[in-house]
Amino acid sequence: MSRDREYVERQYKYIHNGASVEEFMLKFHLNSTELKGLLELCRIYGKNIEIVEKDGTLVFDKPFIRNLDTRKPDLDPNNLRYSQICVVSDTHFGNIHQQLHLLNKVYREAYNRGITKVYHVGNIVDGNYPNRPEQPRQQFLHGFDEQVGYVVDMYPRVKGITTEYILGSHDETHYKNGQATVNNWLSRCRKDMIFLGQDCALTELNGVKIFLDHPGGGSAQSLSYKPQKRIEILESDYKPKILLIGHYHKSYYFVYRNVHGILVPSFCDKTQFQQKQGLSNVIGAYFIDIYADKKGNVEYFCPEEVIFRPNDMWEEAGKDKERVRQLVIK
Ligand SMILES: [Fe+2]
Repeated sequence: MSRDREYVERQYKYIHNGASVEEFMLKFHLNSTELKGLLELCRIYGKNIEIVEKDGTLVFDKPFIRNLDTRKPDLDPNNLRYSQICVVSDTHFGNIHQQLHLLNKVYREAYNRGITKVYHVGNIVDGNYPNRPEQPRQQFLHGFDEQVGYVVDMYPRVKGITTEYILGSHDETHYKNGQATVNNWLSRCRKDMIFLGQDCALTELNGVKIFLDHPGGGSAQSLSYKPQKRIEILESDYKPKILLIGHYHKSYYFVYRNVHGILVPSFCDKTQFQQKQGLSNVIGAYFIDIYADKKGNVEYFCPEEVIFRPNDMWEEAGKDKERVRQLVIK
C-alpha cells in the first residue's frame, strides 16, 4: 500500500460525519492547506468528503459508503439490460419535521452515481386537513400556494435526473379542499418532474414493469402483511416486477409471488400523530440496481437501503426553510 493511501485510510476513520472541522484540525495539528491536501488525497482514493455549515459550525459531511454486493452473479451484459434507480417518498413539504437537507444529500449521491431516474412514491407535500385542527401548528407552510410553491422552488434540480412521482392522500387534500392539483402546477413549472398518477401508477423502465403505490390506512404489526395484500389485489395486467410502496414511513424489502417489493422510508421526522399512535418512523431512501432480460423479467435485483440516524436529522425542520438552499446541479 502506498504511503498516501495508508495516510488516507488512517485519517478517514477519524473523520466522523457531522464532526467539527476546527476540532479535527486542532487534534491533528493541521493547518488549512494541509487539510485541503488531505481532502484532495481522499478524493483521489474515492472517498469524497465535503465540508458543510451546520448550526453556524463547519462540519464534515461524509458520503454514503456503497455496500458492494459480493454475491453478484456473473451477468451477461449482452443479454441483460441494466438500470439503476433511486426511490424516495413522503417528503411532506411544509411540515416542521421535513428533512429537505437529507433529500438533497440523496439526490447528490444519485448524481454522483450517474442515476438518471428517481421515483417519488407520494405525499410530496403535507397537505391541509380541515378536520385536523392541530395540523397548522405542525406546519411552517400552510395551504396550496405555499406548499406547492415550495416544491417548485426547492425540490432538487439536478442535471440529468428526472423525478417521476405519484401523489398521495396528503397531496390530494388540496384537491378535496378546492380542486387544486399539485401535479398541474408542478408540470407547468418543473419539466424535470413527471406526474404518473394519483395514489398509484404502473410505469416501465427498460421493459421492466414498476408499480408505484401509496395506500391509505394504518400500519400493520407485521411489515410484510399489508404489502403482500397489495400484491394479491393487483390484476394480472397490472402485475409488476417491482412494487414500490410509500405511506408507511418504514423500510423493508421482500419478494412475494415473483414481485420485488419495497416499503420506501420517508423524509419527515416523527410527527405528533405518529408519536400518539405509537408508530415508528424511518427516514431514508433506496438505491437499486436492476438487471432484466429483454422480456422485462428481473434477473438480478440489488436494493441498497440508506437509513439516516437521529443525529442526521434536524429536530425543528422549520430550519430547512431558513438554512437549506435548493440543491441545483447544472
Ligand atoms: Fe406520509
